[in-house]
Amino acid sequence: MNAKPSHRTSVPVETPSARYEILIGNGLLQRPETWAGLPRASHAVIVSNTTVEAIYEATLRDALSPLYRRVSSLALPDGEAYKTWETLNLVFDHLLREACDRKTVIFALGGGVVGDMAGFAAACYMRGVPFVQVPTTLLAQVDSSVGGKTAINHPLGKNMIGAFYQPARVICDLATLATLPQREFSAGLAEVIKYGPIFDAAFLDWIEQNLDALMARDALALSHAVRRSCEIKAEVVGQDEREGGLRAILNYGHTFGHAIEAGLGYGEWLHGEAVACGMVMASELSVLLGLMPGDFVPRMQRLLQRAQLPIAGPALGVSRYLDLMRVDKKAEGGAIRFVLIESLGRATVRPAPDELVARAIERHLTGV
Ligand code: NAD
Ligand code: GLY
Repeated sequence: MNAKPSHRTSVPVETPSARYEILIGNGLLQRPETWAGLPRASHAVIVSNTTVEAIYEATLRDALSPLYRRVSSLALPDGEAYKTWETLNLVFDHLLREACDRKTVIFALGGGVVGDMAGFAAACYMRGVPFVQVPTTLLAQVDSSVGGKTAINHPLGKNMIGAFYQPARVICDLATLATLPQREFSAGLAEVIKYGPIFDAAFLDWIEQNLDALMARDALALSHAVRRSCEIKAEVVGQDEREGGLRAILNYGHTFGHAIEAGLGYGEWLHGEAVACGMVMASELSVLLGLMPGDFVPRMQRLLQRAQLPIAGPALGVSRYLDLMRVDKKAEGGAIRFVLIESLGRATVRPAPDELVARAIERHLTGV
């Protein structure tokens, strides 16, 4: 990446429960000002995973050591398959063994899996200790680290056990994206692309025009994509912190995507890959319901394909998709509710007839 070290920005998040900043820039981990004004404590705990710890733990430890008398670390096993109760308990084991008190600050260093688990641990330990998100995947920088959703998976449903719990700060160091494998980078682009149809048609145009630069991890393009994504997420979460309504639009493609993730077993497809394919199905459903013109589906397909994302789902069987989708947090009284696009930049959440949902799935399965 050819980033200019001085390129830094900050996006405020303001919800009924918290106010904090998302810092975005290149080389933030090494800058003293990144850490100024964080909650004071004698102990900081870095929660990461075995992959991320090997690359970034030492840098974060160097940054925190002047600020906290003790800095301890815990590396969780890596992967969505470990986003479980058992792994969460490893965090509690560490906090208790280290005699952490209720001022201890937890630093979640890693992608969305680490962020969701460390955040949930922070929400629960002694009924809540402060935590800071240090996201190191594109997906985590543009989505999961912002807005305070924390959770683990249950075998019967993804992210079903969790809490709304806001971080004290989010630190998006774009330099960390340099080591991200291409498949993970593409998965993050799925969540960037999502913001266009649901909230900002001009951003969708911008992504289409700049996708090659993004795929090349051009620093300025990345910086804009992360900032605009965070601005949109902050705006939505600011209006609806606990998903009483508007926030559900952030789950565009997720109802279908969660079915793919759960149906194949967590970790088989990446979350962003499942969301990409889910967005194609949700776009198809928007067309089938007469909300969007027919050319919307190929437009989404072209863009997702350019980002090297899957646009056809695994052939699990339509009834299996429908069963899996009923275990969705947006479902009400057993009726699945879908995020649908009603015009570019504007989403709606509503139920849809099973036969149309089935058709939207059938049209976008592998080998069909
Ligand atoms: P992830 O956390 O599994 O990270 C992806 C992979 O990249 C892992 O193997 C990780 O070890 C590795 N990695 C992380 N940073 C790296 C780096 N800088 N260099 C090299 N390797 C690196 O996956 P993810 O896509 O970041 O997050 C997906 C999770 O986020 C899912 O569990 C999903 O449910 C959750 N999520 C939560 C929210 C929310 O609002 N809380 C939103 C979207 C997604
Ligand atoms: N990623 C969906 C949300 O934060 O609400």
